[in-house]
Amino acid sequence: MYEIVGKENLTPVTRLYQVYAPAVARKARAGQFVIIRTHEKGERIPLTIADSDRQGGTITLVVQEVGKTTMQMGTMRVGDALASLTGPLGRPSEIEKYGTVICVGGGFAVAPIYPIARALKRAGNTVLSIIGARNKDLLFWEEKLQAVSDKLIVCTNDGSYGREALVTAPLKEILEAGQRIDRIWAIGPAIMMRFCALTSEPFGVRTIVNLNSIMVDGTGMCGACRVEVGGQTRFACVDGPEFDGHQVDWDLVLARQHIYLEQEKQAVDRWEREQRHRGCSAA
Ligand code: FAD
Ligand code: FES
Ligand code: MG
Repeated sequence: MYEIVGKENLTPVTRLYQVYAPAVARKARAGQFVIIRTHEKGERIPLTIADSDRQGGTITLVVQEVGKTTMQMGTMRVGDALASLTGPLGRPSEIEKYGTVICVGGGFAVAPIYPIARALKRAGNTVLSIIGARNKDLLFWEEKLQAVSDKLIVCTNDGSYGREALVTAPLKEILEAGQRIDRIWAIGPAIMMRFCALTSEPFGVRTIVNLNSIMVDGTGMCGACRVEVGGQTRFACVDGPEFDGHQVDWDLVLARQHIYLEQEKQAVDRWEREQRHRGCSAA
């Protein structure tokens, strides 16, 4: 059992969990993820390891509540335990001294971009970070990103904080300014990553994206996470989750992310009904 030893609300829909998982904490590297189940009969969901503490034996997960399992996790408290936690999974980010890199994180993905930016900084790179959210209330970890970046640009879609822009606007400006950029990491919703890759392609800067495709086993066995990169079938769980964004078949990624939309909606409706019922019975 994997005990939740810390929990914090980062935004109204984003929670941070510190989970006791010493074997995973010992091995975790930037870019890797775990697959968890909240209870014995629960579905398996992948979550990026946003941080780890080898001494304390804990890992940090930052979870945006978008559906039944993430909402269910949101009701768990410190002292509760996850039924299973498998990892670290996936290939770690390729951290080297490249020169100047740009790290882009959108929405909940400010969490997954953080360990990558930190590792790139420790490797001696100049790190320019861009983070974005729909509005001020959905932003978090600005200070953490600031601490590992040489420059940080914060954007909101509605201009309620930082610059009123999508993350692609400052990305394009930096590239157009002519400064040498050696590599870009872009993590966030698939549509954001697609547009970051489209933005950087004319400049020929290798752009790494983190494909958040639907995963089940996380070990290359089930095929659920199938993507196409450079015309070849790849499994995001074992061959990725990081890939060259200029080579990704984005139409396929977007289509496959939504294949269970109807079932996901039904699961949320059922969950919300159960929660209401529980609330009424308790009253
Ligand atoms: P649902 O209503 O079931 O699904 C909502 C949407 O989430 C779906 O439309 C689908 O696009 C996606 N999704 C659903 N089931 C899965 C699944 N089994 N695997 C992948 N995507 C799914 N989210 C975070 O908040 N924080 C993270 O650090 C994080 N890291 C991720 C790392 C990887 C490698 C991947 C592939 C995804 C990551 N996600 C992360 C996304 C997260 O797994 C989904 O939001 C979660 O599974 C949704 O479950 P749900 O039941 O709450 O929502
Ligand atoms: Fe099953 Fe990748 S999640 S093959
Ligand atoms: Mg689900």
